[in-house]
Amino acid sequence: MKTYLVTGAAGFIGANYIKYLLKNYPDVKIVVLDLLTYAGNLGTIAKDIDNDRCTFHRGNIGDRALVDSLFAEYKFDVVVNFAAESHVDRSIENPQLFLETNILGTQNLLDSARKAWVTGKDEQGYPTWREGVRYHQVSTDEVYGSLGDEGYFTEDTPLCPHSPYSASKTSADLFVMAYHDTFHMPVTITRCSNNYGPYHFPEKLIPLIIKNILEGKKLPVYGDGSNVRDWLYVEDHCKAIEMVVRNGRVGQVYNVGGHNEKKNIEIVRLTISTIHRLMTETPEYRKVLKKKELGADGQLSIDWINDSLITYVKDRLGHDQRYAIDPTKIKEELGWYPETTFEVGIVKTIEWYLNNQAWVEEVTSGDYQHYYERMYTGR
Ligand SMILES: NC(=O)c1ccc[n+]([C@@H]2O[C@H](COP(=O)([O-])OP(=O)(O)OC[C@H]3O[C@@H](n4cnc5c(N)ncnc54)[C@H](O)[C@@H]3O)[C@@H](O)[C@H]2O)c1
Repeated sequence: MKTYLVTGAAGFIGANYIKYLLKNYPDVKIVVLDLLTYAGNLGTIAKDIDNDRCTFHRGNIGDRALVDSLFAEYKFDVVVNFAAESHVDRSIENPQLFLETNILGTQNLLDSARKAWVTGKDEQGYPTWREGVRYHQVSTDEVYGSLGDEGYFTEDTPLCPHSPYSASKTSADLFVMAYHDTFHMPVTITRCSNNYGPYHFPEKLIPLIIKNILEGKKLPVYGDGSNVRDWLYVEDHCKAIEMVVRNGRVGQVYNVGGHNEKKNIEIVRLTISTIHRLMTETPEYRKVLKKKELGADGQLSIDWINDSLITYVKDRLGHDQRYAIDPTKIKEELGWYPETTFEVGIVKTIEWYLNNQAWVEEVTSGDYQHYYERMYTGR
């Protein structure tokens, strides 16, 4: 049995990861540490933590006394760090918070793990480490910067972040590698492209578009919508992380991506047409519509669910044009490949949102509306 400290697991990917671990790996016990910021929601993992294999602690990864006390209590074998401020737009508004959580918080976890895991020194003076321990950092393809029309990010692509978010994630990665190079700490890093799937907070493109369609609101698209992202179904990312934690080579970075490049505007159009199709095939789904307009047949109309909802808004500052991952290394070394095609994953995701409107209401009950209006309408 191994005990994992999983930080940020009340957020999107971390929550999917602990669900994936609990389902597939009976040899793992989990302790979740999450501050429950606007992006964290205890309801998302309520059923998972009500279990003797998974415990929850609310707190900050940057709180040294707390993290040290958790290491002392649970004797972690593995740390998987998801905790982060994760939204580029918010990093443009408040870069300082990204520095505190993403850089200082990561360094705090690294140092606490070092204190707990070092057993002595080798002849050259390098620390020796407890058998089987591993620190894993969940990073992003945004650390590589932006691509033109051609080419892919490999693990050797120079780091060239542009936003305060990606700069903070890059700095965190550099600290993780510095702990490996300087202290021989057993670390790994995964750099993943854009994820989508259940429990995604509706400030990010796909869940935001779904939410707005159901409410009959305009769909804000930055610039001309031509920015390209490489989309990966979240469970495929979780599987990749676990493969790297278990079998990845220490001190290595693994890129994770789905070879699924789409322009933002394509994603928006596909989401519109998929919701329209699902509601045509299963009229029962229309009951979640907030815009209640009756059609000639006496049913809730969906005629207005079309591309006319799209509205182009002022582009994001420093908006990266294209991200695309070359996942050859993780495929060849560990046998990972994405199992869910985009065509299947997007339908699963939309159906999840249609069936889980109570979750959307819960996570957007805070300052969401205020934030949304400020970002997209400039009010
Ligand atoms: N979402 C993506 O497409 C994507 C892609 C590549 C990498 N990543 C990385 O994956 C990780 C998870 O991303 P996500 O989309 O799930 O993020 P998220 O914003 O949905 O969740 C972040 C979680 O971290 C928690 N948190 C924030 N600050 C904290 C702190 N100081 N201490 C403890 N907990 C704190 C939040 O409460 C939340 O539960 C991040 O490190 C992100 O950079 C995300």
